[in-house]
Amino acid sequence: MVSKKIRTQAVAAGIAVLALGLTACSSGDDKTADPGSTSSEGSSGGDAISVGFSQVGAESGWRAANTKSIQDTLTKDAGFDLKFSDAQQKQENQIQAIRSYIAQGVQYIAFSPVVETGWDAVLQEAKAANIPVILTDRAVDTADTSLYVTFIGSDFVEEGKRVGQWVSDNLGTEPINVVELQGTTGSAPAIDRKQGFEDATKDNANIKIIASQTGDFTRDGGKKVMEGFLQANPDIDVVYAHNDDMGLGAIEAIEAAGKKPGVDIKIVTIDGVKDGMTALADGKINYIVECNPLLGPDLAKIIKTLHDGGTVEPRIVTQDGAFDQEQAKAALPDRQY
Ligand code: AHR
Repeated sequence: MVSKKIRTQAVAAGIAVLALGLTACSSGDDKTADPGSTSSEGSSGGDAISVGFSQVGAESGWRAANTKSIQDTLTKDAGFDLKFSDAQQKQENQIQAIRSYIAQGVQYIAFSPVVETGWDAVLQEAKAANIPVILTDRAVDTADTSLYVTFIGSDFVEEGKRVGQWVSDNLGTEPINVVELQGTTGSAPAIDRKQGFEDATKDNANIKIIASQTGDFTRDGGKKVMEGFLQANPDIDVVYAHNDDMGLGAIEAIEAAGKKPGVDIKIVTIDGVKDGMTALADGKINYIVECNPLLGPDLAKIIKTLHDGGTVEPRIVTQDGAFDQEQAKAALPDRQY
């Protein structure tokens, strides 16, 4: 069955592909992603656009870069009054934050949903209050696309496909056992990256996924799950981690088991954060498909456009690269995150 999310994306009136300008417009307002809420309320002028942003958490290097990009861009100097909250990877915290933004009467709400389902009620409340909602990074699964104005972020299925294709072309020329470290259960990137990888590898009989479990997108989670995989399976050839952090955790587990990551057991991941790229340059990871976290400038542009009475496409897909060892070495000196 085709999921509601896929269907609604397919019938969307327009799908925009956006090349992200990677230079954040920083005003030096360098807040950190402390759990809980922060606000620049009171310090901005009367005309500042008030935006409530509910972040997933601080689970990964990617998330830290994404938070920084948003906080560095939606500054009071740029004309925003940003209210930021960290949901600590809990949907109930995000729903509470959104309700609080509605109660405060913010002009726009943006959020990156921790999981795909269960948003209709709170999004109906935002709609009833006439507050436009912008989805960043992750999709929601709803039949009613009028509940949000636009969704900006990567194509996660495509990311999984690109990893799967690389594995098929470069490692699947002989029989291989793959273990999969999944992202947060029920989240768009975990669902889509799994699907993309399976789609790209299904016709290669050499590739067998022998174990698959969530590591919740964290380094610690990736390490613990990998330790279990190593104990249960003596013949692991490849780790497919849904993000760099879990891949980095897997490296620790593999080394502790007396094996060489990148050599005895190959590792492929998604994100392209500095730590992941460094491990790739060092030969401990073998391939990374990028997921661009620098969504702040485009979020600011979308809000300003809407504020000026303009319209935006319902789906804006960000552009992602991919790196092997040599490409990582070349990219690292200029890497922003
Ligand atoms: O939603 C994007 C994913 O969330 C990133 O790939 C991962 O690192 C993060 O936790």
